[in-house]
Amino acid sequence: MVETARTPEAPAAYRHIIVTGGAGFIGSNFVHWVVDNQPDVHVTVLDALTYAGNRENLAGIAPERMTFVHGDICDPEVLASIVPDADAIVHFAAESHNDNSIADPAPFVRTNVEGTYRLLEAARAHGTRFHHVSTDEVYGDLALDDPARFTEDSPYKPSSPYSSTKAASDMLVRAWHRTYGVDVTISNCSNNYGPRQHIEKFIPRQITNIISGARPKLYGDGLNVRDWIHTEDHSSAVWAILTCGRAGETYLIGADGERSNIDVLRAILAAMGRGSDDFDWVRDRPGHDRRYAIDPTKLRRELGWQPRHTDFAEGLADTIRWYQDNPGWWQASKQAVEAKYAEQGQ
Ligand code: NAD
Ligand code: DAU
Repeated sequence: MVETARTPEAPAAYRHIIVTGGAGFIGSNFVHWVVDNQPDVHVTVLDALTYAGNRENLAGIAPERMTFVHGDICDPEVLASIVPDADAIVHFAAESHNDNSIADPAPFVRTNVEGTYRLLEAARAHGTRFHHVSTDEVYGDLALDDPARFTEDSPYKPSSPYSSTKAASDMLVRAWHRTYGVDVTISNCSNNYGPRQHIEKFIPRQITNIISGARPKLYGDGLNVRDWIHTEDHSSAVWAILTCGRAGETYLIGADGERSNIDVLRAILAAMGRGSDDFDWVRDRPGHDRRYAIDPTKLRRELGWQPRHTDFAEGLADTIRWYQDNPGWWQASKQAVEAKYAEQGQ
């Protein structure tokens, strides 16, 4: 397999890309980003529409810009029907929620490990460029007072069933590059926020609790730190890596957004006119990672990428407004999500 030289000066010009998981939170943001910013690219979305996928997330995209395929990444027949026509695969599809992985790891092993394997085999068979979307959680966690941040050379030390299956998928991608020469890149990104994130996740759960008249829920001592990035910045970074990143390389994506959970929750409470202690402390997540922090130097220096959403308060306010303006998107699932958390003491 011939590796294409891609640089910021001479980016690859893909005309037809497959986006797996394109009906989910980050995948759908990426599809909108490509449709809005890359007029010559056609997108085929492959999505199984699990509980986390929503066809509505792709509403308004013209059919000449996007084809939607309802299918499973673990199904080789579906892959054989779409991969031969594509220049590149951008792989977002995953089971993505840590708490779910603790309650039932089986779908995580299937989709995140077997699904990635199936896609790599299809990419190998058809000589297709492959970008793998992964997470900073593969590196485990850092102490609150550790001056270090994760880099591309940090050792893999995943903590949860979710992050261990993502780590396994990264290893498969690396092996398929080294052994079979598949033209791959990997990105490991920090915590995303923005519109259309499933309400099981931290920020939208608290926003929709407040709108619903329920109290927000904070795990443990609330001091765990996450490194927040707006999902649109994740999308522009993935595009930069897909079109300009060196084959076989890993790039960390982050926007210098470290914040403790309690600070984020208090920012939400203040923005929504609630008191700073207007929330419940609940049972901690087993194995809860303490702190994530990304050093994005390689991505910025090598590919010249910059985040655009650098004002967290503004991004959070837009996100809150989106959930206030779109109750029809989340209200039907709210009760079931909260019932599941209640069973877990959370
Ligand atoms: P999400 O749960 O919102 O969406 C996942 C999508 O994948 C859904 O549309 C779902 O229907 C689809 N899917 C699941 N199993 C599938 C299967 N077997 N076949 C086809 N489609 C399937 O997830 P997200 O938060 O948008 O995350 C997307 C990717 O980004 C994941 O790979 C995740 O590991 C990674 N990531 C997420 C974050 C974050 O903060 N959410 C940060 C870094 C990396
Ligand atoms: O770091 C990237 C990862 O970020 C992605 O790989 C995952 O797909 C994504 O879900 C996210 O993982 P986290 O576990 O960090 O995100 P979550 O939104 O579940 O939780 C964020 C923090 O908030 C975490 O420390 C747990 C805490 N939390 C979460 C919920 C749902 C609470 O305190 N209360 C809550 O109700």
